[in-house]
Amino acid sequence: MRDDQTGPARDREGRAAREERGRPPRRIVVVSGGGIAAYKIPDLVRKLVRAGHSVRCALTPAAASFVSPLALQTVSGEPVRQSLLDPGEEGQIGHIDLADWAELVIVAPATANLLARMAHGLADDLVTTVLLATRAPVLVAPAMNLNMWDHPATRQNLDILRSRGVHMVGPDSGELACGWEGAGRMSEPAAIAEVAESVLCPDTLAGERVLITAGGTREALDPVRALTNRSSGKMGYALAAEAARRGAEVVLVSAPTNLPIPVGVRRVDVESALEMRSAVLDEIDACGIAICCAAVADFRPAEAASRKIKKEDLEPDAGLRLELVRNPDILAEIAAPGGERARRVVVGFAAESHDVIGASERKLARKGCDLLVANDISRRDAGFETDTNAVILLEPGAGPEELPLLPKGEVAARILDRVDKIRGERSSRS
Ligand code: C5P
Repeated sequence: MRDDQTGPARDREGRAAREERGRPPRRIVVVSGGGIAAYKIPDLVRKLVRAGHSVRCALTPAAASFVSPLALQTVSGEPVRQSLLDPGEEGQIGHIDLADWAELVIVAPATANLLARMAHGLADDLVTTVLLATRAPVLVAPAMNLNMWDHPATRQNLDILRSRGVHMVGPDSGELACGWEGAGRMSEPAAIAEVAESVLCPDTLAGERVLITAGGTREALDPVRALTNRSSGKMGYALAAEAARRGAEVVLVSAPTNLPIPVGVRRVDVESALEMRSAVLDEIDACGIAICCAAVADFRPAEAASRKIKKEDLEPDAGLRLELVRNPDILAEIAAPGGERARRVVVGFAAESHDVIGASERKLARKGCDLLVANDISRRDAGFETDTNAVILLEPGAGPEELPLLPKGEVAARILDRVDKIRGERSSRS
């Protein structure tokens, strides 16, 4: 999706991108309880609609004091339901029709009262009736005062809901509207939307552990300076988020970036190529899939000065000569043939500025990986630092597949679709 697009064009594009990937837009009912966090729900609905979904909203009577039904109607493009007994509303979409229509119900904010009513199967208003009648998965985003959250009654209600397979996101810790500080803030709309995608996403990687490297390594010259590159880490982080959505246990070995840790991902922070190598070797044995997306420096200073290099210590006008030594090739090391290697799928990346396919085919053979993702870094809209990417997928013995320019999240999905295919072919051969 392009950032310069607004309104229906952008929503349609979100829808088209989902359909192209075989992941159709879904029907989501968002129900809100009466908490101050309800003011964030229009933002959540907007994010879901932008991702291509159809959204309908329902409010408890108290929720309507915190968020305007008209705001929700505007962002969802659908009438908002509030009352079980209103003949006009029931005439438009009956409460059972709403429950049946949903492919996912998100409860946000889920107040202590609403969680209690859900846990005990009450159906005393429209929202709880929909929750009791639906067969769709349910995702709750709790929000309440810290003491209400800690109360044994709430704890037991959550245990009951979890045992029924209800999904949870949050709450976060921080400053609460009531003035207390601690657990009880509703998760941010972006995090709720992200977890909703995982609930809706088929668990093709359930039970699998995936190792992903990301970011540009930093090779120290002295305590202040380092050699690094322009990798933002966005592609690796998008892959980590998508693998987690597909049910994998994800470990993300990350060089320094400004990116937040994707939901459900364990991150191991490293700086240099040597640190990245040792973190990868610590984790690799337990992983069935390894995706080396990091831009690892090929060279590092032969020696990192323990004290800051000062120009005053050099001859006046003298330059500084750096001696660089080669870094180990982490990808080649883990892709090397061997016992464990035979069951692991290894994916490498290549950044090329000319003869992209030729150079990448040679790299695929040299590195020995199962899939190589080639970036043409001469394009301004793809590769380093951008939110979009245009890549070519190369597998040994198969022709290259050129993907169109796509958001990095979509590229991540295509790469993992290909990994799924490779795993499927391998298991049908064995
Ligand atoms: O050889 P080149 O750096 O172009 O290869 C890129 C691929 O190799 C990427 O997947 C990168 O993560 C990996 N790589 C590595 N260790 C290095 C250099 C690159 O794992 N020292």
